[in-house]
Amino acid sequence: MRLTRLTTRDQRRLVGFGLFGLAAVAVYVQFFFAGLPVLWGPRASAAEVAEGRVLFEHEWEPNDPLAQGDGLGPVFNARSCAACHFQGGLGGGGGSEHNVTAFEVFPRPGDPTFRSGVVHNFSVDPGGRETIKGLRRVFPSVRGRTFPPGPADCGVPRTVPDFDPVRTEEIQTTALFGVGWIDLIPDRAILLNARNRGLREARRELQLDFDSVPVGRVRRVAGGVGKFGWKGQFATLSEFVAAACANELGLGTPTAEQARPITAPADGPPAPDLDRKQFRALVAFVKTLPRPVEAEPGDAAARDQVARGKRLFGEVGCAICHVPDLGGVKGAYSDFLLYSLEDPPPPGGGSGRYDPDPPPELLLPTRPDDEPKPAEWKTPPLWGVADSAPYLHDGSAGTLRDAVLKHLGDAKGVTEKFKSLPAGDQTALLAFLGSLRAPPDALPLSNPAATRLAKK
Ligand code: HEC
Ligand code: HEC
Repeated sequence: MRLTRLTTRDQRRLVGFGLFGLAAVAVYVQFFFAGLPVLWGPRASAAEVAEGRVLFEHEWEPNDPLAQGDGLGPVFNARSCAACHFQGGLGGGGGSEHNVTAFEVFPRPGDPTFRSGVVHNFSVDPGGRETIKGLRRVFPSVRGRTFPPGPADCGVPRTVPDFDPVRTEEIQTTALFGVGWIDLIPDRAILLNARNRGLREARRELQLDFDSVPVGRVRRVAGGVGKFGWKGQFATLSEFVAAACANELGLGTPTAEQARPITAPADGPPAPDLDRKQFRALVAFVKTLPRPVEAEPGDAAARDQVARGKRLFGEVGCAICHVPDLGGVKGAYSDFLLYSLEDPPPPGGGSGRYDPDPPPELLLPTRPDDEPKPAEWKTPPLWGVADSAPYLHDGSAGTLRDAVLKHLGDAKGVTEKFKSLPAGDQTALLAFLGSLRAPPDALPLSNPAATRLAKK
């Protein structure tokens, strides 16, 4: 074959087309590409998963022979992962009796750090047990002040009340089914969905359609976009597993040090309890827990009802936040953004439950902007929801209907639409939620007694 020589002009043109093509691809990837569909789910070797299962169910003791360090504790909330994660099979959610008390401490004079952690219910050494009262002793209230009257105060001095820097919140155990799939959702899919929502909402406002749902906030954490935890506090599953080992069981891992009692002096780092291989195995087990299913009822009428409920779920706007498919993973029903489902306190109505920033007169640093507000929670994935009662971050909703009706704040418009549906349609929507079940192939617990509470 003879090669024809291209003229300089043709060469330029070719290069031009090439550059244009590259630029087009770059623009597409930057703005429209949500990542490849997730074709292969999370995988791990059978031997690793089996070792991980043993570690997940093991009831840890202080100085446990399976541990490389001091074993359970010094502070802990239970003796095994399975103690809290068991509903609907090994790895599921847990009831309210296993709730965890999370705390936040606001910056105080001389201590600008914003802290968060867990108040541990148990300790190996009886003196080390943590309580909310003890936490408040370590981080006492900031004394209020009385200010001499200013020009606008009509001669009356102003008193600013004491400020309590400690907030606590009951947190419910989430189910872990399918978490390995969520780990595979790329950050860019979440960011792209949030941006497209923003554009849609802006267009609706231009058309004077105020019937909108504000776009939630992306939570950015050290490892990327926060997808795990009720507040999206971790970007990767492996980080959350390390935090669970450290905080719930007091097991140090190669990536996270075991929790210390709040009052303990910070001496040198203790030896990790799980070595690299054990930790990898535990993550492999959690990551390959089966994913939840959308159960198809046997009889035709019930099947139609569920299908109608699923359509209504989209029509009334639930799917705006509970996005069915994202980043190539189908049926998780979340956008992984933060929303507030509480109505803001009435103007001038003083401090409702959520008015945590200190009064400006005290001149204390406020909450860093990128920390979620107390009322902000991540849209939880709804897959498997029917097998994870009670509902919401604090387990305050006993039924799926309660959970829906408690959506105020950012979701208020959608909840109003739900409430205006005829009774039969409401029932159908709830029947759809009821079809989101734990995987039928979830493993039973080897030792069901492990779910009892640890002894104080
Ligand atoms: C005392 C009860 C308790 C124990 C024990 C416990 N967890 Fe959890 N787990 C929770 C709670 C509560 C949450 C929700 C925490 C949050 O979102 O802030 C949770 C959340 C998780 C999540 C995040 C899931 C998601 O999708 O956001 C993972 C992963 C997890 N736990 C793994 C483990 C592992 C592994 C162990 C054992 C090392 C363990 N947990 C032990 C109560 C417990
Ligand atoms: C503005 C976003 C938004 C909209 C719209 C929305 N949700 Fe939610 N949903 C959330 C958030 C955030 C939570 C977690 C709140 C919490 O834990 O306090 C939640 C929690 C839930 C829960 C409890 C899940 C669990 O694991 O406990 C259910 C069930 C639920 N939503 C169903 C619905 C239904 C049905 C609709 C439509 C009628 C809807 N949601 C509309 C954001 C939304």
